[in-house]
Amino acid sequence: MRSLLLTAAKQPMPNLRAAFGKICRMLVGLQERKIKQESVLLSRSLQNLPDPESPPYLEITTLDRHYSEEDLLNIHNEALAGTSGFKRAGSLQLEAFKASPHHDPKGVLIARIDGVAVGYCFARYIPDGPSKITGLAVLNNYRGMGIGRALLIRGLHYLRQRGADRVQLLVDLDDSTRSFYEQLGFEPEKDPPHPRW
Ligand SMILES: CC(C)(COP(=O)(O)OP(=O)(O)OC[C@H]1O[C@@H](n2cnc3c(N)ncnc32)[C@H](O)[C@@H]1OP(=O)(O)O)[C@@H](O)C(=O)NCCC(=O)NCCS
Repeated sequence: MRSLLLTAAKQPMPNLRAAFGKICRMLVGLQERKIKQESVLLSRSLQNLPDPESPPYLEITTLDRHYSEEDLLNIHNEALAGTSGFKRAGSLQLEAFKASPHHDPKGVLIARIDGVAVGYCFARYIPDGPSKITGLAVLNNYRGMGIGRALLIRGLHYLRQRGADRVQLLVDLDDSTRSFYEQLGFEPEKDPPHPRW
């Protein structure tokens, strides 16, 4: 089944490609359902954002300008290993990610140092509801240098520039990164995350 799906992904026919993307999204959605049930929904307004900032050695680019989609998988697999609910990501997850109706390569921010990708932030603009940060990760050896903060602030500015006025994200119930987001103005929402978050 998996090899059939991967073969289909390489086909140039757009309909087949779209169908393949839908199947990947469905499979990945089933895998992620439990993780979402154990998460807290944080949100903040997109007014009064801190100014975009980044250390001088850091370049922040976007997926449409970056040379390798696989770098997203490498960062995910290294940075999130050991976190609750971690699942190694591969072609299936990458296809599901790109098949989302809200996928926007310009909202996929990639931090690079000397051309090497060291972190990402996924900022998804949703026209008919709160926009979302669906991923943020920095490679272990590059943490504590202000990269995560710089990526997140850049993502928030991007969403505001697209027209969003509010942003949401999910963190694990017992995750220390919650305080990282709270430093940047995020607060818990009363409503639990929607199953289709
Ligand atoms: C969370 C993460 C992206 C932070 O990236 P980073 O580049 O190390 O963060 P920064 O260096 O920009 O830190 C900014 C501030 O947040 C604090 N901070 C960073 N990570 C933190 C954490 N895990 N818990 C609490 N505070 C944290 C820093 O101390 C710093 O505070 P300061 O400004 O007072 O010095 C990174 O630790 C990571 O990739 N973690 C694994 C993936 C993950 O958990 N992602 C979030 C899923 S919701």
